[in-house]
Amino acid sequence: MTSLFARKPIAALVEETDAQGGLKRVLGAGDLIMLAIGAVIGAGIFGAIGTAAAGETDAAGHIVRSGAGPALVVSFLLLGVACALAALCYAELASMIPQAGSAYAYSYATLGELVAWIIGWDLILEYAVGNVAVAISWADYFKSLTSGFLHLPVWLTTGYRTALLSSDAGLHGLLKSAPHVAGVPILLNVPAFAIVMFITWLLLLGVKESTRANNIMVMVKLLALALFVFAGMTRIDATNYHPFAPNGFTGIHHGAAIVFFAYIGFDAISTAAEETRNPQRNLPIGILGGLAICTVIYMIVGAVLTGMVKYNELDPSLHADPLTYALQKTGMQGAGWLVAFGAVFSMTAVLLVFQYGQPRIFFSMARDGLLPQWAAKIHRTTRVPYITTIITGLFVAFWALIGDAGETYNLTNIGTLFAFVLVCAGVLVLRYTDPERPRPFRVPFVWPVCIAGASLCIFVMFGLPLETWIRFGVWLLIGLVLYFAYGYRHSTLRRAGETESSPR
Ligand code: ALA
Repeated sequence: MTSLFARKPIAALVEETDAQGGLKRVLGAGDLIMLAIGAVIGAGIFGAIGTAAAGETDAAGHIVRSGAGPALVVSFLLLGVACALAALCYAELASMIPQAGSAYAYSYATLGELVAWIIGWDLILEYAVGNVAVAISWADYFKSLTSGFLHLPVWLTTGYRTALLSSDAGLHGLLKSAPHVAGVPILLNVPAFAIVMFITWLLLLGVKESTRANNIMVMVKLLALALFVFAGMTRIDATNYHPFAPNGFTGIHHGAAIVFFAYIGFDAISTAAEETRNPQRNLPIGILGGLAICTVIYMIVGAVLTGMVKYNELDPSLHADPLTYALQKTGMQGAGWLVAFGAVFSMTAVLLVFQYGQPRIFFSMARDGLLPQWAAKIHRTTRVPYITTIITGLFVAFWALIGDAGETYNLTNIGTLFAFVLVCAGVLVLRYTDPERPRPFRVPFVWPVCIAGASLCIFVMFGLPLETWIRFGVWLLIGLVLYFAYGYRHSTLRRAGETESSPR
């Protein structure tokens, strides 16, 4: 019997793409850098940055986890280094195995089927669950931008879980005051639902069309952050930088674990491997280039923000839009509105890239028999994996309709960090098990880079609360049950192995 740790030969991974018609290769290095920026800059820098600086508060307004304060720039630097090390590993594997499945496909080739399944399951936390949080934040900004002329009843713009978990008396009171059907309060976040459905429709049109829309959104988000930096620089008060690290290294550590969400996404570019021209050259450029640009932007934005207002004013329970708040607090109302407008665009781009990545991972898993075969269908004219695109769209849209953003952020962070750790390990394993295979991009100083990358990611994971670890454990457990109930019996690789070894 084929072992649970059976590895998929890389040659098979590379060849099957073309044999099955594959996806359409239309993306160059520039498109990939734009996709990376599109995926990375979003709810993290426009929202979570406030929590990372000020810390997390409980329902009674007490700080339960300390924030980084102005030392937030150190948190960003730490994360930039951790992500760059993981990014090098992603680049080596993506250039060797240019497949849509990203970390899932890499672990299938390196660590075996069971680990591959766990990673594929885990990536749902990064892409689909992450997008639930982004869609809800998008809806928050959208509501404040349109509050002057669009008046939807509050029960149609607030998800049930948000009302249930809120410490705000007004929001929590919606559980009673909202219309009820059969005793259940109707609390729906319709804008969050609508934006996800719109993005899904855009993706179904085809990948080239989607990246064009992404490029426009990326320009808008860069302009919004440039406006924040240049306007904000004129309002810096040096006294705000004292104390620089009010909660010492613990605050920097917690801040990093929270704001890690801002970095998630550069790896999503690897899911575009099957649609990239010359992936061996273009993937590493796209992944590392996009990450470097984002790290520099984040450090500058963090330094300007904590110079404009005292860090403890950035408590998210007081202001969900810290950049706009800082501008308005220092007398720049117009700039604040423009930055909020840019935030809506930024998050739309994040939604687009994540909604793009998730179906391609499902597609790869279905192609390997770990999910039902019908999920691997590609549309005849657009060459889009349309079944998985629609399923992802519905899953994210319905969760966003009733979900809460805060509840999903940490889960996304832990799931993504776990995937990074396995990717770093995968590079080392493959150097030993398949040393001869051409590596168009090689991680330099492979041992120190992989070990430091995995260790830093584990270190950041330990900055997350125990509750997040427990939820993550439960998620993995559900994944294991599903694997033995379906994937284990239907895996294409396992069936091939059993046919070869069974007597005639
Ligand atoms: N990095 C993405 C964001 O901040 C997920 O929205």
